Amino acid sequence: MVRISFVCLGNICRSPTAEGVMRHMLDEAGLGERVSIDSAGTGSWHVGEPPDERARQEARRRGYRLTGRARQFGPGDFAEVDYVIAMDRSNAHALREMAPDDAARSKIHLLRDFDPESPAGSEVPDPYYEGGFDLVLDIAERSCRGLLGHLRREHGI
Ligand code: 4NP
Repeated sequence: MVRISFVCLGNICRSPTAEGVMRHMLDEAGLGERVSIDSAGTGSWHVGEPPDERARQEARRRGYRLTGRARQFGPGDFAEVDYVIAMDRSNAHALREMAPDDAARSKIHLLRDFDPESPAGSEVPDPYYEGGFDLVLDIAERSCRGLLGHLRREHGI
């Protein structure tokens, strides 16, 4: 089983979107039992809340369902997963600060590093105040497809 956690700031917009898109793609590929995914936030403000209605609406329009409730990522979560996939560099920085050791740090990636149309270091823009949920979905679709290809190559699934 390959285990993935998508991480953003609030865990109500970007990371639940990536989680919903990735789950859909894995199910379509018949890999739902081979890869486990969840999402979390580096912040605690929205813990317990469902995904943002604007994110859910844009996802629904494209045939995805966003589920789950926001939770905060903690140092102990590194041991539970193989990939910790951050939405932006600020999330990745917070995760590196929190990581208990090098093994944990080596699990941290940026989602857009799997986006074939983006240069290395690209970010998923935070849509909470500015909007842009359609762009977040576009990026999530490209990046999750790229991530799926990476998992197939690296893990032979
Ligand atoms: P997310 O978006 O990190 O994609 O879930 C945000 C949600 C809430 C806040 C910031 C970003 N906030 O400041 O409360």
